[in-house]
Amino acid sequence: MALYPANAQAIAACADKLKQGDLVALPTETVYGLAGDATNGEAIAAIYATKARPQFNPLICHVADMKAARAIGRFNDAAEKLAAAFWPGPLTLVVPRQADCPVDPLASAGLDTIALRVPAHETAQKLLRAVARPLVAPSANPSGRLSPSSAAHVSEMLPDIDVLDGGNCSIGMESSIVGCLDDAPLWLRAGGLARKDIEACLGVNLSEPPEETAQQARLAPGRLARHYAPHSNLRLNAETARDNELLIGFGATAEPCFANLSADGHLSEAAARLFSVLHEADKAAQQSGQNLAVMAIPTDGLGEAINDRLARAAA
Ligand code: TXA
Ligand code: MG
Repeated sequence: MALYPANAQAIAACADKLKQGDLVALPTETVYGLAGDATNGEAIAAIYATKARPQFNPLICHVADMKAARAIGRFNDAAEKLAAAFWPGPLTLVVPRQADCPVDPLASAGLDTIALRVPAHETAQKLLRAVARPLVAPSANPSGRLSPSSAAHVSEMLPDIDVLDGGNCSIGMESSIVGCLDDAPLWLRAGGLARKDIEACLGVNLSEPPEETAQQARLAPGRLARHYAPHSNLRLNAETARDNELLIGFGATAEPCFANLSADGHLSEAAARLFSVLHEADKAAQQSGQNLAVMAIPTDGLGEAINDRLARAAA
């Protein structure tokens, strides 16, 4: 519907809308989220409908601080450590729901666990404090499509939604997700916080979730093979563009590229630009009837998440 600059007046107006059960797209440091009141089942149902999201795919609940998080989930030692080290920031923790958890069960898609995150973005923080309720906010894109890292991406893909414009997302990649249930901490989704930083904080290695099965799709549906997908075909690990391909580069290269994720070969810059470049390249490729190809990206640090998103986009 409209794009609002993220000033005090717009934040107050959006907080009112959220309290009434309406949806608002909000900026976070990872990607833009399609936010709704987590205590309102109808608002959550509207999120699923707007995204055309499979009902079994649970949502991340956003809160302003640890105090609000404790009212919703139970934190074991690992969860305490990770929250102290990385919140606010690009990390989501899946923990058991509190017995009197105020979040509507629809947000957890019937699971007895809940995904929690404290975002760092100033506008997200202000909005959460103004609403004074937890907000569920999946990425503000139709299910399975590219995630939005700018307000313009949201209004292109979800033209009926009001968007608070908080600029380009500084990280540009969804949060990393760690499961902190009874057993060893689980690596559920590679994202904006590198695995090695999480493991260094915990002092143990993260465990892999069980095999890619229906059961596991329930554990972390973001792991579905085709996800984050552009409309165009995407070829990975390209060295040069073939006929009829637009090339996305990485690092110093003499190859003509449609865009370069990071000419200096910096993975944080490539992560921040990934979805913007894919959105633009996808649009250009559709207009010219071409396909996409992307150069190889190193797999260390944030490269794990970048390669994960590219593999799903290409599947
Ligand atoms: O950075 C982000 O995390 C963004 C911004 C907006 O905060 N949000 C985001 O949400 O990426 P979404 O809905 O696109 O991804 C949520 C992921 C899904 O893969 C889902 O499976 C997982 O979180 N998830 C949510 N609740 C869960 C639970 N109880 N157990 C396991 N995984 C869960
Ligand atoms: Mg998403």
